[in-house]
Amino acid sequence: MPNWLLSLDRFFPIRYLTWFACAAVMLLGAFTQVVAHAGGVWAVLGLVGVVTGVRDVRQRRHSILRNYPVIGHLRFLLEFIRPEMRQYFIEGDNEAAPFSRQQRSLVYQRAKGDPDKRPLGTQLDVQAEGYEWINHSLQPTRVASHDFRVRIGANCAQPYDASIFNISAMSFGALSGAAIRALNGGALRGNFAHDTGEGSISVHHRAQGGDLIWEVASGYFGCRNADGTFNAELFAKHATEPQVKMIEIKLSQGAKPGHGGVLPGPKVTREIADARGVEIGVDCISPASHSAFSTPVEMLEFIARLRELSGGKPTGFKFCVGHPWEWFAVAKAMLETGLLPDFIVVDGGEGGTGAAPLEFTDHVGAPLQEGLLLVHNTLVGLNLRDKIRIGCAGKVVSAFDIARMMALGANWCNSARGFMFALGCIQAQSCHNDHCPTGVATQDPLRQKALVVPSKIERVHNFHRNTLEALKELVQAAGLQHPNQITANHVVRRVAGDKVKLLANHLQFIAPGSLLAAARGECDWPHNVYKVYWPISRADSFAPAAAEVHPDGLKVPLPTVGEAQAPLDLVI
Ligand SMILES: Cc1cc2nc3c(=O)[nH]c(=O)nc-3n(C[C@H](O)[C@H](O)[C@H](O)COP(=O)(O)O)c2cc1C
Repeated sequence: MPNWLLSLDRFFPIRYLTWFACAAVMLLGAFTQVVAHAGGVWAVLGLVGVVTGVRDVRQRRHSILRNYPVIGHLRFLLEFIRPEMRQYFIEGDNEAAPFSRQQRSLVYQRAKGDPDKRPLGTQLDVQAEGYEWINHSLQPTRVASHDFRVRIGANCAQPYDASIFNISAMSFGALSGAAIRALNGGALRGNFAHDTGEGSISVHHRAQGGDLIWEVASGYFGCRNADGTFNAELFAKHATEPQVKMIEIKLSQGAKPGHGGVLPGPKVTREIADARGVEIGVDCISPASHSAFSTPVEMLEFIARLRELSGGKPTGFKFCVGHPWEWFAVAKAMLETGLLPDFIVVDGGEGGTGAAPLEFTDHVGAPLQEGLLLVHNTLVGLNLRDKIRIGCAGKVVSAFDIARMMALGANWCNSARGFMFALGCIQAQSCHNDHCPTGVATQDPLRQKALVVPSKIERVHNFHRNTLEALKELVQAAGLQHPNQITANHVVRRVAGDKVKLLANHLQFIAPGSLLAAARGECDWPHNVYKVYWPISRADSFAPAAAEVHPDGLKVPLPTVGEAQAPLDLVI
């Protein structure tokens, strides 16, 4: 700032200029109104500015307004429109926040049935580290249909032949009634599954009749007693409804594992209260953990009980991998009791949510690749992989995303935000404040009207169909018949500079039965994560055995054997 301006500022703070300008406009307007009967509007506008300035300097909430009366409001206005400005004018096509424009455009085009082809070639840097591709065949196949299926719960009384691409859990409460209707209608049209989310089954889920996966979480919504504990009778009543095809116990969710959640009282409308079995207008709490079981064995017994109460429907659980010894404890309980879930859904730490603390979305929970590999490998190492199906979720929106996850061991993929984009979500990130501009994630009746259910049903259906069509083309190009034939040998990754590796060589895949053999002492442990944590995990507790032998509070021992030679990484 020039010196003369600094001197002026000392006697007359120039940050008050707008405020004083308002006073000048007011006086001038009043004067011309009196003299020439014109300018009254300016007088009123000036007065509004002056009063705003007085209010700004007197309020105690915003320091910026106390120092910069009137003009300071610009900062709040710009902050308010920043996401839109950034999204439309500044953000790069491949910048993920959390989804890139490329990813969203692909969903929008497939959902609308618009051409989804790209001209002139890839925009990706094929020399960049992390770039991946699928190896194609010189003899592409022809696959009759894109309707790829996987049988879940083959030994159940009512197995389910699921699509390999389904709608991931999102509750009525997080999403609007209109959004739920459109998702379920799309699921019906495309013959795929719609996960209820933990908010249970509402009138909106029932309106269209699409296949449901009923998610039962720690709040036991839809099957709870007044004190929030599990109610078997209510569970059986709804689980046996023909529309419900599978039961999923939610242990955790990638965006906020170990956190639980609250739907604030003002959002608990009559419809939500009816669906969940809670009181209208009262905070609806999902505790961080379940009350129906407290050990891995009890959890498997609970799964078996729910399967029985549902009349033999496939029953499994969803979780985001955290402490490896807790997952191993569940796996040990499977071995000891012979009680197996029909499926496990692995959610990645990169997953979405209606609302969660930043520390949780950013820094809690294993990302999908690591979680999926650990679960898949463990089941392979225990010879249990063919008895349990694995689903997964975490930023899966394109056919390549699905193919990649299947290569890593998934049997099917779920998408939450992909289907939100199909409904018209523009990633405004207002799910938590009820101001969703597209009516997808709001309970505001007026805002919901923006979402026209019949046309969005069409879009949900189109997105599913066109994505699987694209997957079919990938499968054909690779010379295969079904996406379940895609393995880590088909996908290549640039790991650094001019070094590329098959995912099969880049990531660790363990041999069938190798964990059982290592536990019997017949061979080396397939990986440090097993060597260190498998011996201390136990079927009768989620806590590691070592917790008891470490009174100093160190719950888990660090690796001590072969530290020098073996990699110290404890995540596969
Ligand atoms: C608005 C919203 C609500 C969600 N609600 C639930 C829920 O009730 N239960 C659950 O298990 N996961 C919930 N999730 C997580 C998703 O089901 C999914 O696991 C996660 O977002 C990863 O998938 P995505 O990357 O395709 O979004 C929610 C996600 C979003 C975006």
